[in-house]
Amino acid sequence: MVQILFNFITLFTLTLIFGHGNTVTHQDVCGELIHVDEAVVIDGPFHENCMMQFETQEDRILAFSVVDGNIIETRELFTIHDGISTESPILLAGNQKILEYSRKDLPATFYSTQSAAIVRFIKTPSAKMSLKIQKAVSCSLNVGPESQCGRVVDEISCYCANFNNKNHPDQTMFCIDNKMTLVSFENRTEEEFVQKTWSTQIPYWTSLTDTRRDGTWVWEGTMTILNPGDYTHWFPGRPSLANDNEEDCMLYGGNTFFGYWSDVNCITTLANAICEAHP
Ligand SMILES: *[C@@H]1O[C@H](CO)[C@@H](O)[C@H](O)[C@H]1NC(C)=O
Repeated sequence: MVQILFNFITLFTLTLIFGHGNTVTHQDVCGELIHVDEAVVIDGPFHENCMMQFETQEDRILAFSVVDGNIIETRELFTIHDGISTESPILLAGNQKILEYSRKDLPATFYSTQSAAIVRFIKTPSAKMSLKIQKAVSCSLNVGPESQCGRVVDEISCYCANFNNKNHPDQTMFCIDNKMTLVSFENRTEEEFVQKTWSTQIPYWTSLTDTRRDGTWVWEGTMTILNPGDYTHWFPGRPSLANDNEEDCMLYGGNTFFGYWSDVNCITTLANAICEAHP
């Protein structure tokens, strides 16, 4: 039994370390155009005048970081140009958006403002280095007068809190109007980052509802059915089990439910909201 448990823990740890299955590693790519599907790691070797073009999905942006290092400290080695025209400006640390609500411990990252960029080496690096380029969503400073946005979970997604009290359909539309969706908590980690950033003192709508069919809870943001075994964080006694009940939308927070989830009336309940956008 202990052995089985040990194997399980080892497997789990390995999955955490090597679990980013969609990262493609490239070498010897000077002069090439590289498509970034999700994430790409460029292992070098880099040399003076090495130039690479990157492009991703048209409505997404590129996030540049250095594996095992800080991209800001390596910036005398290369420049990143925002776009692939000859006039594309160089991305500078000072011109990058400062998102106050972002996690402070995320890897230092440079963001393009469009879906293509050029990296141009000025010097040959003296030590081995790897560049990481990821597809990301752009993140506004806010999405309205009473909102706050940030890279709250990771460096490629964006989350915004809306402090206007509205019912569930109106908050759903608020997120959609800003090219986002109401938040869907995939796991405890994601929920904890969001709750740490904006607290649980006031209630926030999420995308979880059983409006379409009582008893079948769907994260409408990701169109995923909540199956047995999936992550949940219901308040004791929730969701309400009565058939055809009127409590069809999930919110968390406030003095009754704290960080836990509760099902409440979608139309008559007014609450704040968390919107999210993933690449
Ligand atoms: C938790 O959810 C976040 C956000 O969707 C995701 O990026 C992360 O990989 C998930 N973590 C685990 C351990 O599944």
